Amino acid sequence: DIGPYGHFMQKEIFEQPSAVANTLEMVFNAQSISSGLFGSAAERIFSQTKQVLILACGTSYHAGLVARYWLESVAGIPCNVEIASEYRYRSPVADANTLVVGISQSGETADTLAAMNYAKTLGHQHSLAICNVAESALIRQTDLRFLTRAGPEIGVASTKAFTTQLASLLLLTIVLAKLRNKLSSEKERGMIAALRHLPAALQSSLQIEPEVQEWSQRFSEKRHALFLGRGVHYPIAMEGALKLKEISYIHAEAYASGELKHGPLALVDSEMPVVAIAPNDQLLGKLKSNLQEVNARGGELYVFADADTQIEESESLHVIRLAEHAGILSPILHTIPLQLLAYHVALVKGTDVDKPRNLAKAVTVE
Ligand code: F6R
Repeated sequence: DIGPYGHFMQKEIFEQPSAVANTLEMVFNAQSISSGLFGSAAERIFSQTKQVLILACGTSYHAGLVARYWLESVAGIPCNVEIASEYRYRSPVADANTLVVGISQSGETADTLAAMNYAKTLGHQHSLAICNVAESALIRQTDLRFLTRAGPEIGVASTKAFTTQLASLLLLTIVLAKLRNKLSSEKERGMIAALRHLPAALQSSLQIEPEVQEWSQRFSEKRHALFLGRGVHYPIAMEGALKLKEISYIHAEAYASGELKHGPLALVDSEMPVVAIAPNDQLLGKLKSNLQEVNARGGELYVFADADTQIEESESLHVIRLAEHAGILSPILHTIPLQLLAYHVALVKGTDVDKPRNLAKAVTVE
């Protein structure tokens, strides 16, 4: 039942405040976050963990890429993130003190399962699943587990699974940071307070839907689009490009903004819309000069900024502002407008939003 929504995808986009609240429920009343959330052996395993290896596919892989920034900057822990189908056919060097984390909505993705098994045969001893399905193969085969409580995701394009994965990965970051003495209890309380506020912050991000819808008409006439982001928002740009490709069939590519001059700038003309994520962070100044480069080539810019980001609008630079600035949670909030953009462009194009051509919800074959 899709209630008042047009499709499961739209319903699932709007379910994100409650999906994230359910996933974080057990920490909402806590003063501190315990390793026990990840399983009874978690404390022992996490205190031996010297690095993290994340294995996943598609949208779940993008969640892993965001987590790398958090794990490095908050927990001071080295982290690699690998596409499962690549990892399983390489000869990587294993390390017994690495925690291998498989991220999967379905827990049945063949490549992710195979990559997790392969990591074990190579000598990686400790594994953790972040997964949305309690009875899945992934959950059965790992030592530790954390269930995202997004509820069933019906739309083929993943939405609420992604944001609940991110919330879970932030919990993992906090737990690992504490065990490594990288997080004071005061900072931890600050992060818990931010997580507590996350459902409300997601709710206010969703209110920009009508503005995004206004952009979708112009977008639907394009054949290609570029998505730009820097730092922790680069994987969010990748996720936005994937969503647009999947359901609107518009070719979209994401670039780390700093790479623009190294090639993709050659593509920019008035026919190439450029979507940029512009949080008000320390990289904003650099992003603005990237935007000027696009503008100077006649490119049309569509910028998603924070409430307090200083960016001047013009004929060819359109800005939609999120209601707030979310600090460490910013990548989670900036996901919302990109999901909405893909959805509304697909609506204008009249594609089969919940069941895009050629795609399956769970990829159980290679
Ligand atoms: C994109 C999408 C896919 C999945 C990927 C992994 O919207 O849904 O890219 O993210 O197939 O699936 P899971 O997370 O079930 O392992």
